[in-house]
Amino acid sequence: MKKINFLLLGITFSFALQAQQPFVPNYDESKVPAYQLPDPLRNADGTLVSDKAGWVERRAELYTLLANEEFGNIPQWKGTLTFKEVSTRKIFDNKALRREVQLTLSDNGKSILFNLLIFQPVSSKPVPFFLGYNFDGNYTIVSDKDISLPVGWVANDKKFGIADNRAVEAARGSDVSSWPVQEIVARGYGVVTLYYGDCDPDFDDGFQNGVHALYPEPRNNQSWGSIAAWAWGLSRVIDYIQLDHAFSSSQIIVIGHSRLGKAALWAGAADERIAMVVSNNSGCGGAALSKRAYGETVGRINRAFPHWFCDNFKRYSENEVSLPFDQHELLALIAPRPLYVASAEEDRWADPKGEFLSCVAASPVYRILGLPGLPVTEMPLLNHPVMGTIGYHIRPGGHSITLYDWMRYIDFANIHFKR
Ligand code: GCU
Repeated sequence: MKKINFLLLGITFSFALQAQQPFVPNYDESKVPAYQLPDPLRNADGTLVSDKAGWVERRAELYTLLANEEFGNIPQWKGTLTFKEVSTRKIFDNKALRREVQLTLSDNGKSILFNLLIFQPVSSKPVPFFLGYNFDGNYTIVSDKDISLPVGWVANDKKFGIADNRAVEAARGSDVSSWPVQEIVARGYGVVTLYYGDCDPDFDDGFQNGVHALYPEPRNNQSWGSIAAWAWGLSRVIDYIQLDHAFSSSQIIVIGHSRLGKAALWAGAADERIAMVVSNNSGCGGAALSKRAYGETVGRINRAFPHWFCDNFKRYSENEVSLPFDQHELLALIAPRPLYVASAEEDRWADPKGEFLSCVAASPVYRILGLPGLPVTEMPLLNHPVMGTIGYHIRPGGHSITLYDWMRYIDFANIHFKR
């Protein structure tokens, strides 16, 4: 803060110039503060969990802690869901179907629409599948000309000339590399995706639009932010999928990249119908430990995205030491279900080492449930995935989801799903 003094008519005036300092992330391991992680197996009353029954109670306590202090509470869904098949087409030499299904979710006299894009291998029995949001609209993840553009808010993008938050034709197929659907389907897995803005547009609008608009109750410090809203949306898609006999409802894998990886993790914590969770480069507020304050920090994420978490989470901005939990406890909430966390070498903003250490620190919870958790404590080399009940890899390259990542998730699912 800069202090300015000046003299006018014999009186000294003094005021402070409070310039907003640009955020400088720490990428120096030697500057990571000393920290102690809370033990996920220690109850709030100080006693230790020693068996499965104890974990069930502790899990409920931890879930409430993270809901109240980080993501906000998801209101109970009492609304109605209707759906219509919009299109069905044979693809990939008739080996798969591509479908569009529109869901209408209504509550408190308001509705929102989810436009699902579905790829399913032709199979005589229900198939396991990946469920995940896409960032820019279904029309960006395949080049097919007949997939329509989102009608609501999308992020601006100079590359495609998007300056008014409206989707443009030029972005068609722009994100195909993140969704290698042909390769996924060839391995016997389905894919269900939708645009995350269908659920909640990603800007700070005071919670007036998207799913928050269905719940007009006054908000408080523990009310849900956008990440919890996106998690809620995944659960509503699962409500629908359970009616769809093409898919195995005991083999639902929720997947997300980056902010959508944070949402996938919170969905996995909130909805135990999810059989496996994949966090791809989810970073701060996702898989990465906050107390390391490496790369993106709690303060930075709360300032840049004030609508993602609940207001209570802002109390820990620049104050990670006071966090009564850390992100390994979010991972622990997935136990005993398989969980895969992946990092990318150049994605220092998301703190690959913090993501790895978080998996290590979540593992005692798996072990108390008789499962191996992550089978190593040393960070593996690049492209050397490790797979226990927690899987982890770090690959070369930057912040993205690649074919390599997807194929490892399928290897991992094949280990855990008897097929
Ligand atoms: C920003 C944000 C991250 C987030 C990422 C993304 O970089 O700071 O927390 O994960 O966007 O979603 O791509």
